[in-house]
Amino acid sequence: MAKHRIAWLPGDGIGMDVLNAAKIVLDALGFDAEYVPGDVGWELWCKEGNPLPDRTIEMLRKTDCCLFGAITSKPRDEAARELAPELRDKGFVYFSPIVRLRQLFNLHTNMRPCKAFKGNPLNLRDDIDIVVFRENTEGLYSGIEFHPVPADIMRLFAEHEPKARRFIDVPLQDIAVTVRLFTRNACRSIVTQAFEYAKKHNRPNVTVVEKPNVLRETGGLLVNEARKIARDYPGIELWETNIDAMCMWLVKNPQIYSVLCAGNMFGDIISDLSAQLVGGLGFASSANIGDDYALFEPTHGSAPKYVGMNKVNPMAALLSAKLMLEYLKEDEMAQVLENAVGRVIAEGKVRTYDMGGSASTTDVADEVARFCR
Ligand code: NAI
Ligand code: MG
Repeated sequence: MAKHRIAWLPGDGIGMDVLNAAKIVLDALGFDAEYVPGDVGWELWCKEGNPLPDRTIEMLRKTDCCLFGAITSKPRDEAARELAPELRDKGFVYFSPIVRLRQLFNLHTNMRPCKAFKGNPLNLRDDIDIVVFRENTEGLYSGIEFHPVPADIMRLFAEHEPKARRFIDVPLQDIAVTVRLFTRNACRSIVTQAFEYAKKHNRPNVTVVEKPNVLRETGGLLVNEARKIARDYPGIELWETNIDAMCMWLVKNPQIYSVLCAGNMFGDIISDLSAQLVGGLGFASSANIGDDYALFEPTHGSAPKYVGMNKVNPMAALLSAKLMLEYLKEDEMAQVLENAVGRVIAEGKVRTYDMGGSASTTDVADEVARFCR
């Protein structure tokens, strides 16, 4: 029997290409695993009215963790139009499978390393080494949304919050509301993960990214919990920065930042920004970690432009596989894989189009694999 059981979800578009690349490299490392393929993505939505069928969820429950490619996601109305004719107007509603998986498996911590590999021509600077910790299940992405807003909800808002009164005469179908809900537990958890990581990896500071001067309740809760938790880590400085200023500082002085910590939406924004500082989506890996399950994925989407072309950069997927190896305590293999990625980037002989080269996805995987054997 194989040592590890891995749920294998390539999903849509280039997801297939980049997971094939990951498989080449994992095999070269001698990673001892059984890979269990599962259905997820756009085709499943169109054919079955559910992009994440129950059978896939059941399968995931029987595995150690999941390696995920990418999915295509579209706004609700557009999704409804692409349903198979016999499924239309039957009440099927599209939900993003990746957001659902994060909530279903309570994958509360999203970790996204953004490290400049030496010799990558796409680096903004060569001395950037940022790790983003993003709360993954709450905040503006918790899915509590209304349009039109139920009348009793508007009435309660106005009753409890005078600032809501100026909206009371707006027709309900002309108001959309998304709830930004933070729990103390989730705030404490994401900050603790960020500090624990900083402690383990000798990192000097943790920056909490919020906007508590405006988002006083949610932002205030996260920042206040961060201040309390920081007291338990005397060697590590807590920096507090507003999201808007953070976007500016990350472009101006990215090298001074080490560990960033944020709620769901601001974490989403700063992790894409940080990824671009070190080469863009082709290099951005991520781990979605919960108490008893984890899912690893490149942060890019399905890049429809490049479907079936074997052309995109697999580094993001390879680095996601590296995070998976760390989670499975295969630290030595993880290190070999990261070194191999670093070597291929530094040598610069085999590069995909985004790095100015003409190598294919598979060429890059083969070259990384060569240094993994
Ligand atoms: P995308 O990430 O798929 O691609 C945007 C552009 O980034 C591509 O056209 C390409 O130029 C570049 N790019 C992405 N991955 C690359 C790689 N590995 N190597 C080189 N270049 C790469 O984002 P887009 O176009 O906004 O979304 C396409 C679809 O993917 C949408 O349906 C969207 O909803 C979905 N999506 C899914 C995500 C997920 O599976 N977690 C995340 C983001 C978007
Ligand atoms: Mg994003």
